[in-house]
Amino acid sequence: MQTLAQTLKQQATSDSLTQLIFTLAETSKAISKAVRHGALAGLLGATEQENVQGETQKKLDIITNDMLKGALKGDNSVHGLASEEEDDVVAVNQGGEYLVCFDPLDGSSNIDINSLVGTIFSVLPAVEGELTEQSFLQSGRNQVAAGYVLYGPSTMLALTTGHGVQLYTLHPETDEFLLTDANMSIPKDTAEFAINMSNQRFWEAPMQTYIADLLLGKIGPREKAFNMRWIAAMVGDVHRVLSRGGIFTYPTDNKNPLKPYKLRLMYEANPMALLVEQAGGKASTGYENILDIDPQEIHQRVAVILGSANEVDTCLSYHDIDY
Ligand code: AHG
Ligand code: MN
Ligand code: MN
Ligand code: MN
Repeated sequence: MQTLAQTLKQQATSDSLTQLIFTLAETSKAISKAVRHGALAGLLGATEQENVQGETQKKLDIITNDMLKGALKGDNSVHGLASEEEDDVVAVNQGGEYLVCFDPLDGSSNIDINSLVGTIFSVLPAVEGELTEQSFLQSGRNQVAAGYVLYGPSTMLALTTGHGVQLYTLHPETDEFLLTDANMSIPKDTAEFAINMSNQRFWEAPMQTYIADLLLGKIGPREKAFNMRWIAAMVGDVHRVLSRGGIFTYPTDNKNPLKPYKLRLMYEANPMALLVEQAGGKASTGYENILDIDPQEIHQRVAVILGSANEVDTCLSYHDIDY
């Protein structure tokens, strides 16, 4: 089986990008080990700190953030970094070619129940001059690489550098990422959806109507029975969509009028949107392609609808109607 190094070489990835991907991959191996020690190492549970998102940080949110930050600081290809767990952007190396945005631990609420968690990352080109938040505010189309690592029954790395999506599985004995799917491809049609149904009463009219029609199954306008899944970790839900198709959405809601969206653009929506597009799927807010968004701030949140192309189009058609 082909290694990560061999695949990147075949794709003629530059030395500096290869180096950065290796920094991320090596750190994810260490995170995978830390996560597996769980309760044995006293790693479960929350801290008393809050992040800039207003979320109480889990111990592992902070530990994984520090691991990634430390590793990226030691990589001279990195100009700056931004993380879900860092209030502000962090300057790294003056001459670095890349900016890295990451969600060190996605699915924090799953930690204490030993369920799926992951790491999400997005790599952007560095811009001239002093590093500021503005340096990062580039469209998702600028991403030179994006991926996630899933700490599940096996540890998997899904990666794109613009040549489709490759999936690697971490060999537990040799500790090497081996290519197990050279070209992930999302089926155009699906009969599976992922949404947190408990928020139903807070959604906008288009999403209310779309999901109601899915739930009607064969007797409804879709004339098809749909199944539902919700892992509560975007990495897990997106991985299922990349593996066998589906539609995943965290739509606009009015539960908290000051916070109408849950997922973050720079280190959740953008990298996942690039992976999904590279695998033949679509990613939208309902009104705009995710990758076309002009970011306004590093912790900006957006509505996300992504997955099987025809199903995303159907969902979007509900957004074109006046309610
Ligand atoms: P994070 O743990 O990095 O803060 O992200 C959690 C996100 C995402 O992974 C998941 O899809 C969603 O929150 C789950 O939200 P609910 O708890 O509302 O289901
Ligand atoms: Mn969080
Ligand atoms: Mn997350
Ligand atoms: Mn997180």
